[in-house]
Amino acid sequence: INIKTVGRTGYHFQPPKHWINDPNAPMYFNGYYHLFYQYNPKGSVWGNIVWAHSVSKDLINWINLEPAIYPSKQFDKYGTWSGSATVLPGNKPIILYTGIVDANKTQVQNYAVPANLSDPYLREWIKPDNNPLIVPDISINKTQFRDPTTAWMGKDGHWRIIMGSLRKKRGLAIMYRSKDFMRWIKAKHPLHSTANTGNWECPDFFPVSLQGTNGLDKYGEDSKYVLKNSMDLTRFEYYTVGTYDIKKDRYIPDNTSVDSWKGLRLDYGNFYASKSFYDPSKNRRVTWGWANESDIMPDDDIKKGWAGIQLIPRKLWLDPSGKQLVQWPVEELETLRKQKFQLSNKKLNNGEMVEVKGITPAQADVEVTFSFASLDKAEPFDPNWTDLYAQDVCAIKGSTVQGGLGPFGIATLASQNLEEYTPVFFRVFKAQQNYKVLMCSDATRSTLKYNETMYKPSFAGYVDVDLADKKLSLRSLIDNSVVESFGAGGKTCITSRVYPTLAIYDKAHLFAFNNGTEPITIETLDAWSMGNAKIE
Ligand code: FRU
Repeated sequence: INIKTVGRTGYHFQPPKHWINDPNAPMYFNGYYHLFYQYNPKGSVWGNIVWAHSVSKDLINWINLEPAIYPSKQFDKYGTWSGSATVLPGNKPIILYTGIVDANKTQVQNYAVPANLSDPYLREWIKPDNNPLIVPDISINKTQFRDPTTAWMGKDGHWRIIMGSLRKKRGLAIMYRSKDFMRWIKAKHPLHSTANTGNWECPDFFPVSLQGTNGLDKYGEDSKYVLKNSMDLTRFEYYTVGTYDIKKDRYIPDNTSVDSWKGLRLDYGNFYASKSFYDPSKNRRVTWGWANESDIMPDDDIKKGWAGIQLIPRKLWLDPSGKQLVQWPVEELETLRKQKFQLSNKKLNNGEMVEVKGITPAQADVEVTFSFASLDKAEPFDPNWTDLYAQDVCAIKGSTVQGGLGPFGIATLASQNLEEYTPVFFRVFKAQQNYKVLMCSDATRSTLKYNETMYKPSFAGYVDVDLADKKLSLRSLIDNSVVESFGAGGKTCITSRVYPTLAIYDKAHLFAFNNGTEPITIETLDAWSMGNAKIE
């Protein structure tokens, strides 16, 4: 095994080497998508952060450019941290980002503009001398005051932005307003805040349409809103769906949304610091997330010479129930699909497996719909298994623990004799009033490497799905060291980073399985080999 190349992804975004974290300022401008991201140009652990920059016509194939923003001035000498882009009227992009001004990590907000708007790649960015635009006043925790959002305009014609912050243990979305984008005034109240969540990183606040899957750009009245925060205490991202009181400039989560780290997550696995943008060319909202390595031993990343990937951009929209978001890989990904395997109407009795053949299972896209004749065999649901404990339930009730209705699903990145595999699967329980569907992406058996000490979480989330049609669908994007899964059309998403030692390259296998007493039918299974994204 070549430690430098094994595990590198084929169609997920990765620079040739070194550390990456948060995606920054994604935007569409004059025919190109821009992705900036936190990058260490000197090594494969976090540090020396600059804004690396890549452009793309399709969100999948990329051209890498020189870093766009890097420490060079008094107002960002100690760091150029995360931020967002806003395309101002007149089609003029502007970036807001957090500058670190001293060794204590004091945070200010700066702006940068393209040096030359007629350069299609917007290679060069200027940080004018009237920076910083915002410095923390004494009421603000100056080392927890960062990650400005895309700005939106209120009815009064004034711009608004929020930044993530912390006061005592309360997470805050501190709001500022401006008439001219240059002079910013702190609003009396944060847009929103929640007790006992810890610091909010990389907030994202955006409107979602009440109907259909199109995205919204304008912050008007006739829509729902989503506030997403990355919580550094748990390293997961949580969101609520709610309303935006435009007069008071306050966000109010709906009472169907749990507003804390017990709430809904964009992804129940390794997915952090995501940022969305409105894509006017396809009238959709797209979000990007970052997945760090989970190989745990920092030495590994140093040996590898790289760490971190950007996940596949996801289109997102409001579920018709109005209670949650739905996410789906952008359609452009499908251009990388190559050889196809197809299966339909295949029955799997308890303990049966079927292998997906003739494609490259280490780098694949698989979509499968399972059906079953009855819900009678669903196991009883223990009311203590609340959303917060889904992961523990998955750890106990793994893919080989026989159940009634499930576990059934797919075994990804599997070695021939299943010494290694990462199963993604469902298990249906019967609760008092309804059925509970658990979705797991379980890394417990993903690798033989450091068997005792490796971080191998049994990531899991519940899927709020109507089982009236007795069907459950699953899509997984498998790419060497990552498995990104979308349950029930994207209602529950789980990403795992895994490091097989046997199930690599052409030694990887893919199976569908059922370990429940209720027979399962694979209605359809379509799997494709995935080509490599071009990253030049
Ligand atoms: C989130 C984060 C941000 C910060 C950046 C620094 O991963 O900690 O809050 O701006 O990374 O790289």
